[in-house]
Amino acid sequence: MQVLHTAAELRAALAGRAGTAFVPTMGNLHAGHISLVELAKQHGQPVVASIFVNPLQFGAGEDFERYPRTLESDCEKLSAAGCDLVFAPDVAEMYPVPQTFTVQPPDSLANDLCGAFRPGHFSGVATVVLKLFNLVQPHVAMFGRKDFQQLLVIREMVRQFNLPIDIVAGDTLREADGLAMSSRNAYLGASERIQAAQLHRELATIAAALQAGERDAEALCAAACRRLKMAGWRVDYVALRDATTLQAPTPASTRLVVLGAAWLGSTRLIDNLEISGSPSTQ
Ligand code: PAF
Repeated sequence: MQVLHTAAELRAALAGRAGTAFVPTMGNLHAGHISLVELAKQHGQPVVASIFVNPLQFGAGEDFERYPRTLESDCEKLSAAGCDLVFAPDVAEMYPVPQTFTVQPPDSLANDLCGAFRPGHFSGVATVVLKLFNLVQPHVAMFGRKDFQQLLVIREMVRQFNLPIDIVAGDTLREADGLAMSSRNAYLGASERIQAAQLHRELATIAAALQAGERDAEALCAAACRRLKMAGWRVDYVALRDATTLQAPTPASTRLVVLGAAWLGSTRLIDNLEISGSPSTQ
């Protein structure tokens, strides 16, 4: 497996390749990332992973500085998973000049849910992903469903800019107690780690109630928020949305998703559950 740090090296290594399958990451890899590499391998093209902690998608006071940088062990995991090439640029390589051209996702996707609490985040994500797409020129790229809003932003960017790239969604991998795997789980202290699975349980409770015929989604989400707060969480949101548009569900919605974001101490966790069977809601 090649590990390259510059755009020039990457371009030279990819010259003449018919296509690649791409897994963009910020490193500190867990089994969820590796499952995306395995998914990428199914496409029969060389697999390229990137490892880059992108400053553009972190707001002031967020965890850019403390985000774990674990290049060596990440490369071991990627090599064992059969990845062919890792692109691990530094900030100066990705942003040799200030990034004054940026991608602005539509307000409806970028400024709602996580975007409402992390202004500029999805613009930072879309901008770096577009740059990475331009560098790697993949035919297919993998994104986890765990970052559901991000997945929709990327899909819409690909659609609106006519990028010739298939976006493939990988399922969320979970710990035994249901906690969604995330690089940020490493921030949790021992008792927070035990408590952390409550976010998934609350979303599962909402999904189960809707599937059992409960129609008042707002009341279900409000009750979940109350229970989280009583247990010591600081809740950004718990919301039910149309899984295609991320807008409030309408009678025409065929797929729903319940999403949540909340803080345990200084750690912000997100999770979501797609709900099959399109239960009707108020
Ligand atoms: O999901 C992530 O790890 C990041 O947001 C991504 C897509 C690699 C862009 O920095």
